[in-house]
Amino acid sequence: MPKARTSYVCQQCGAQSPRWVGRCPTCAEWNSMVEELVESTPAPASRRGESTAVTSMADVSLEDAPRIPSGMPELDRVLGGGFVAGSVILVGGDPGIGKSTLLLGVAGKLAEVGGKVLYVSGEESLRQIKLRASRLGLGNSPIQLLAQTRLEVVQQAIRDVTPHVAIIDSIQVMETESLTSAAGSIGQVRACAHELVKLAKPSGCVMVLVGHMTKEGYLAGPKVLEHLVDAVLQFEGDPTSGFRILRSNKNRFGATHELGVFHMTSEGLLEVSNPSEMFLSERPDAAAGCMVTVSLEGSRPLLVEIQALTAPCGLGLPRRRTTGIDSNRLSMLLAVLERRVGLRQIAQQDVFVSSLGGMRLEEPGADLGIAIAIASSLKERPAGKGDAAIGEIGLTGEVRPVANMRQRLEEARRIGFHRCFLAAGKGVPAAMDGLELIAVRNVQEAVARALGSAAVREPVAAVAGDD
Ligand SMILES: Nc1ncnc2c1ncn2[C@@H]1O[C@H](COP(=O)(O)OP(=O)(O)OP(=O)(O)O)[C@@H](O)[C@H]1O
Ligand SMILES: [Mg+2]
Ligand SMILES: [Zn+2]
Repeated sequence: MPKARTSYVCQQCGAQSPRWVGRCPTCAEWNSMVEELVESTPAPASRRGESTAVTSMADVSLEDAPRIPSGMPELDRVLGGGFVAGSVILVGGDPGIGKSTLLLGVAGKLAEVGGKVLYVSGEESLRQIKLRASRLGLGNSPIQLLAQTRLEVVQQAIRDVTPHVAIIDSIQVMETESLTSAAGSIGQVRACAHELVKLAKPSGCVMVLVGHMTKEGYLAGPKVLEHLVDAVLQFEGDPTSGFRILRSNKNRFGATHELGVFHMTSEGLLEVSNPSEMFLSERPDAAAGCMVTVSLEGSRPLLVEIQALTAPCGLGLPRRRTTGIDSNRLSMLLAVLERRVGLRQIAQQDVFVSSLGGMRLEEPGADLGIAIAIASSLKERPAGKGDAAIGEIGLTGEVRPVANMRQRLEEARRIGFHRCFLAAGKGVPAAMDGLELIAVRNVQEAVARALGSAAVREPVAAVAGDD
């Protein structure tokens, strides 16, 4: 194949250079030059097989986008009801989190119901794949395998096999002959993904691209693929726990923020269809520093335990560490506890807060649970074992209701909780059978009700004393 003409293009300002340079000569940005294919005279659309005819909206048929169930209800939930033929899905996640295990499992499920699946691995040998497959009970599955990193070979295989679903594990190791840059470079990753997208649409083949996330949360080559693909799924979890969560960050065919829950075992990933109990610890008695909140993930309410630990920090800056909770949010809550609840000693405490299983709590409804957990650790007073808290906290310490309170409360009751601290408001039930609803106006009141009034009164008196 003749070498296509390529050029290095600045991702910041678009300047071109025939050779790689470390710093863009035009805008002076460092490391912004990425190799791209140059199409001197683009072929006319008609020759590229594209339709040039304009269609009226009313005439567009919806019939030809059938959903292919993946055989895994938790994955289907995240996808919005199964794979859409011809769509391209990017599955990202930290190294070792279980991406290959998940997708090999999906391939097995699809093959079981007669789907044609091509699994392309650029990272592992056929033997390694077979070993994993045997562990997952898929040793004799009719999955088509290809161990290959050259894009042109992969494209040919997809044309030959005409699979319903092709899994590319991973997009970062694929390389096309038309670029000279190394596999994994932004130019290569983007060009390979682009070629696969072009192949997916006309053939109706679903392309699942695996991408590695770096610790900063980027897919190598900052987010270069996100706009190219139809859906971006993120596979995450605390590597030390068996929980794995699949979220959709982008989905052209369904709601985002839906979430699937899995459990990693030696036989592979098991789906958890009823995950609320998974993020609660099995402690026999109430312990100081714990509180449970009900988070809403997509359409599903989930009970999640928050654990906080405070300890005097001695000299130096107090440390604040979080797992699953945004550290800026924690800083805000600590300031509110210090200033509005009067827990002055927080400024000299190391504070560690985590959600059980590393479940990412992003919505503000978790605020109240986090604040009570921290106060509980600080005062060494446990909240009740059957207590939960749901509410957003504002800068003045006021507690506000969040969306879908009824649905969350019903889940808390179903799991067996007895009391819930919340803010009264529109859409919030005033009472529920079997679940005591305790409406609070501000954090101070919530802490007092959850931990006993002494938890609040003492420090307020101390504040008055040292001023
Ligand atoms: N023999 C085994 N028994 C139980 N669990 C295993 C076994 N081998 C691997 N695992 C689990 O599978 C995980 C690796 O899964 P997998 O290879 O699917 O991850 P990945 O995200 O594809 O990783 P990579 O980034 O290396 O491609 C390990 O972290 C481990 O938890
Ligand atoms: Mg892998
Ligand atoms: Zn530039």
